[in-house]
Amino acid sequence: MTTQQKKINAAQLVIKKIKPGMSLGLGTGSTANEFIHILGKDRDLVKSLKFTSSSNQTIETARIYSIKCLELDEFDYLDITIDGADEIDKNGDMIKGGGGALLREKMLANISKEYFIIIDESKSVKTLGNFPLPIEIIPFSPKSTISQIDKVFKKHQMVLQIEIRVDSTGSNFITDGGNFIIDCYCKKIFQSKEINAEIEKIPSVITTGLFLNMSSSVIIGYDQYATEFKFDR
Ligand code: 5RP
Repeated sequence: MTTQQKKINAAQLVIKKIKPGMSLGLGTGSTANEFIHILGKDRDLVKSLKFTSSSNQTIETARIYSIKCLELDEFDYLDITIDGADEIDKNGDMIKGGGGALLREKMLANISKEYFIIIDESKSVKTLGNFPLPIEIIPFSPKSTISQIDKVFKKHQMVLQIEIRVDSTGSNFITDGGNFIIDCYCKKIFQSKEINAEIEKIPSVITTGLFLNMSSSVIIGYDQYATEFKFDR
């Protein structure tokens, strides 16, 4: 069975959470796209919903099904946001931002009554950190920002490689918001709460890919089925 089928299994289960009339946040990535591909075929349900998106890439996927994404400003809150993750642990804490949409994903999650994460089983981990932690920073003087971030890690006895993300042409990757991403090769992050708070205090850091205490539940797709695990929030 392919990884794609596992993502589809997770997306098929989460679709049951969507009720007519809801406002919906759309996440970014291949798993979030599988959700859009399934939802897009239910024309009656789609017509009754209001959408906003976490990235330009997702806006394009939604457009295939004539799903119009409104500006986030149009919403005081979202009923549900459906998104993927790069890693998630047993508490529902996550690393996100592999696709570079972490800032808008966090903005959607922050105003969502329920935040459902859909993943294939490979994303479920014991300890966060094997996936490089993305951090969105302003493009001005990135070396200075990196050095301040490095100091935070060193304070927590972590010596690691930090790289500015580049695109397929070798140029610095630019987010939808016009910022840079740096990727931090942590291997294991034990003090995620403290590290996150200290990094987010650096003025040139916009946000980190640590999504702590945010997910309502995770739906894990396996070969033949998917299972939901709920978190107390
Ligand atoms: C994008 C993200 C994605 O949710 C994450 O990268 C997972 O993507 P995929 O479902 O393609 O593995 O955080 O910024």
